[in-house]
Amino acid sequence: MRKPISEEISFDDFDEINNPPPVETAFEAITETMLSRRRFFGQGVAFGASAFVFGSTALTPFSARAESRLTFKQVSANSLDTVTVPDGYSWHVVTKWGDPLWSDGTDFDSVSRGTAASQLKAVGDNNDGMALFADGDKNILAFNNEYVNRRNIFGNRESNLPENADDVNKGKAGHGVTVAELDFSDGTWKVVRDSRYNRRITADTPMEITGPARGHAMMKTAMDPDGVLAKGTWNNCGNGRTPWGTYLTCEENFNGYFSSSDELNTPSAELKRYGVVNKDWGYAWATEDDRFDISRHPTEPNRFGYIVEIDPLDPTSTPKKRTALGRFKHENAELALAKNGQIVVYLGDDERGEFLYKFVSKNQFKEGKDNKDLLEEGTLFAAKFTDDRRGEWLPLTPETTGMKSQAEISILTRIAASAVGATTMDRPEWVAAHPSKTEIYLALTNNKNRGKKPNKGGDETPVGGPNPRAANKYGQIVRWRPDKGDHLSTEFDWDLFVVAGNPTMHEDAYAGSENVNADNMFNSPDGLKFDSMGFLWIQTDGNYSNKDDFAGMGNNQMLVGDPETGEIRRFLVGPNECEVTGVTWSIDRKTMFVGIQHPGAKGNGHFPEGGQSIPRSTIIGITRDDGEAMG
Ligand code: FEO
Ligand code: CA
Ligand code: CA
Repeated sequence: MRKPISEEISFDDFDEINNPPPVETAFEAITETMLSRRRFFGQGVAFGASAFVFGSTALTPFSARAESRLTFKQVSANSLDTVTVPDGYSWHVVTKWGDPLWSDGTDFDSVSRGTAASQLKAVGDNNDGMALFADGDKNILAFNNEYVNRRNIFGNRESNLPENADDVNKGKAGHGVTVAELDFSDGTWKVVRDSRYNRRITADTPMEITGPARGHAMMKTAMDPDGVLAKGTWNNCGNGRTPWGTYLTCEENFNGYFSSSDELNTPSAELKRYGVVNKDWGYAWATEDDRFDISRHPTEPNRFGYIVEIDPLDPTSTPKKRTALGRFKHENAELALAKNGQIVVYLGDDERGEFLYKFVSKNQFKEGKDNKDLLEEGTLFAAKFTDDRRGEWLPLTPETTGMKSQAEISILTRIAASAVGATTMDRPEWVAAHPSKTEIYLALTNNKNRGKKPNKGGDETPVGGPNPRAANKYGQIVRWRPDKGDHLSTEFDWDLFVVAGNPTMHEDAYAGSENVNADNMFNSPDGLKFDSMGFLWIQTDGNYSNKDDFAGMGNNQMLVGDPETGEIRRFLVGPNECEVTGVTWSIDRKTMFVGIQHPGAKGNGHFPEGGQSIPRSTIIGITRDDGEAMG
């Protein structure tokens, strides 16, 4: 049975109900009691059907120092409907869903929750990845509006769903990207209304299709017979930023917006691999916009699932879909510079059993030169990890994949990566590259299907390598070092920086690695970002029930990890039913901006205004009381 939308289940669960993976394979699920925790962190153990190596602790072999370098006092886990930060730090609301960006907009109306017209002039819903750009001394913040909370944006309807054309269009306008100038006065940051930088990009904004897929037959539609101009971007999750000053927004669960007016329509295997089926997730866009009806426009979904490049300083610029970076459920896009100046972009595909990718630009970055189309052409690779803590990047080319062209690989990237035998991962979320070392970190958030079910393409998901636990409910962070300290290397070493778990509930692998304890435990790492000091900020989007397997973890949170020592310390706890996602810094680095997404998502929270107010996704600013930099 299809669950009702109002239960607000996760994207992944909803997708799985509508579009279940192939039948179970014969993998033997390991039992949680097979190994004691000590043995788990022993020399390397046979674990279920496959052996894996875990080192003496999760902190080796990349760690050397022992003493703490963190100066703040850890925040305790809690289930309060507010933000908690350490003593010596303060937070304030910067902006939130529905705040008008222009003076001809309308203040948020908690009865109607706005209209399509007011939403087009206001901050979108569900802020996610973000990056701050400088134009001289002006602070320009670009941030994703991943999706809309139907319970809230349509909370004026008894169904909590869109019920007329204006509702549908309000939903579309709540998605996309917001660009806003921020100004600091009286101790807080605020949006500068009517700033010339302010911009809303929505599900209807025209975007140029660039790269190998441009003009390909699979990209052509009735509305765009040349396959060169797509309308809109949505479900923009994590982000990236380029050294040439552009913002990258990453299209994740783009599939949930398509549906079929013909119930007998059979979506192609290619559409199903991406979760596009006859039912949408309750947004009803096809009822007002024909292109979302896959029985009439089966190629329209091929135009989504990309990295989109935006010039945040030019509100008249046309965003560019960079198809060379592949099509999947993009989490974020982390750029690194190879020794010779080629651009390397690390990319995760957030779905159970999907892959980790990297893109290597054909051309080199040259300071002060025209770098604007570096993401137009290059080679895409998928990662293969082996149990001996080694890994390699497998190029996705017509020769290696058996596919007809680079265009086809750019559009059907998941199928290409399956063809080369890339490693199925525990839901790759954000990737973060260390600012001064050639070392890259990836959050693997959780995967209840690990060792139990194949991915949507039928690839098996055996326990092993960087995915060491069956039915993984807590997640882990894997890191790797490219050989020769160069991001161009096609081989690397890897280890696990942290394996999340609950040492108060488990003594086996689910206790987590040794840098997890009763005081700092968490589940489901998602957002990852390094600050300029080389500390890793870890944001969670997990189970906040605070009971059973998750007892003692409290609400979703943000922690700091030290790659040098392995220490992890909780810095922030979010309000009820939120996830913490998106982090960036002001030009002077004295403020850290952090995203509080979907607070009160299940109806039990009123952040940020409290009382009986409607909860609203919010960007907060965090400062040190002594005025020093935040990282
Ligand atoms: Fe939108 Fe994978 O989180
Ligand atoms: Ca995320
Ligand atoms: Ca998430």
